[in-house]
Amino acid sequence: MKASDWDARYETAGVWSREPNAWIAATLEHLDPGTAVDLAAGEGRNALWLAGLGWEVTAVDYSAVGLATGKERATELGVDVEWVVADATTWVSPTLVDLVVIAYLQLPAEELSRAIGTAAGYLAPGGTLALINHDRDNLVRGVGGPQDPAVLATVEELTHAASVLDIVECRQVDRVTPNGIAIDVVLVARAH
Ligand SMILES: C[S@@+](CC[C@H](N)C(=O)[O-])C[C@H]1O[C@@H](n2cnc3c(N)ncnc32)[C@H](O)[C@@H]1O
Repeated sequence: MKASDWDARYETAGVWSREPNAWIAATLEHLDPGTAVDLAAGEGRNALWLAGLGWEVTAVDYSAVGLATGKERATELGVDVEWVVADATTWVSPTLVDLVVIAYLQLPAEELSRAIGTAAGYLAPGGTLALINHDRDNLVRGVGGPQDPAVLATVEELTHAASVLDIVECRQVDRVTPNGIAIDVVLVARAH
């Protein structure tokens, strides 16, 4: 999908979710706040949640419409987030950051790997990368999510893409939805 396709989706759907992703929240809630990038932030649900915890957050997405909604919600919530319209595979943070969050960036493996590699390059030593995507197994034993296998990730692909980092965990997780169980893949990795 192109940026204009995502813009059109956000224009018609409105706010998708006001809550952070549950796995992201459970994984990151105990970290001490620092600087963070939410890559492919969409409407910024995870960025806004982090900002509310005291993180200094930059939310990056190539959909200006998605980010505009996030910006409005930041004003409503009284939190500060920097909103940057840019391509997640090539954008580079001007400073090293303590945390990069990537949630459901649906790209072919090579492009997702480029985004992860670029992000790894601006993680501070000891910094954390937390990623969650739809797993390719979701097509055969899960519900929802994109139906194009090319934009669904696997443990093997993510392990390879994050090999410059220390991998803490990379595994499938079940996500309960109103329509049944969805199969996600999660990655937590740390910079040396
Ligand atoms: C499924 S949404 C997830 C949004 C958000 N991370 C969340 O969990 O609510 C995928 C997002 O990825 C963004 N995206 C896809 N490819 C991108 C790229 N190459 N550069 C920047 N953003 C991209 C889309 O614009 C969209 O906002």
